[in-house]
Amino acid sequence: MTFDIITIFPNVVEEYINTGIVSNALKKGFVEINVHDLRKWTDDKHKTVDDTPYGGGPGMIMKVEPIYKAIQELKKENTIVAITTPKGKILEQKELSDFSEQKDLHMIILCGRYEGFDQRIHDHLVDYEFSIGKYVLSGGELPALVLIDGITRLIPGVLGNIESLNDESFTDGKLEYPQYTKPEEFNGWKVPEILLSGDHKKIEKYRQKRQKMI
Ligand code: ADE
Repeated sequence: MTFDIITIFPNVVEEYINTGIVSNALKKGFVEINVHDLRKWTDDKHKTVDDTPYGGGPGMIMKVEPIYKAIQELKKENTIVAITTPKGKILEQKELSDFSEQKDLHMIILCGRYEGFDQRIHDHLVDYEFSIGKYVLSGGELPALVLIDGITRLIPGVLGNIESLNDESFTDGKLEYPQYTKPEEFNGWKVPEILLSGDHKKIEKYRQKRQKMI
């Protein structure tokens, strides 16, 4: 599975992918992630990636040419070109799990910035527009990382066995029950008696009751 991330802040993306579970998955070869600076595909002195909108108005718009060139260079036959935008389809666990099953997935992710992309990018270059929630962020780096993290942790073998089993319960729309660890009491806050009882049937019932639906 390969991701090509196109951003004007490659350092932000590098930092995250070289940490924790995603970093382990990279080292073990479950995923390949290439981070590209969009400015690489500009050819003016100032490496311009944005410009003012036709018709006037505030803010700057991501230009079509650098993105077109980047996609031309990176795209293969089965590539999904994805774009981060608050106008996109809100990401759900089901999609993450579907993507995680596509072993030969190749996805190019365009991280948005400024006031958005030139509409011709949406109309002609992109297959999949996604949002991570009904709010507006200042850029697409966090949404791109959310997508990659959410997919990577579901790739069989990336998490240990126990955690993978836990994930099974997520697939039928349930979130984990509340968990506690030592000490039994802290600051007067006690662990529920039932979890200390050793009665596995009762514990299981308690946990089922406390699971939240996504
Ligand atoms: N860019 C800005 N806000 C966003 C969001 N909520 N989801 C995806 N991309 C975005």
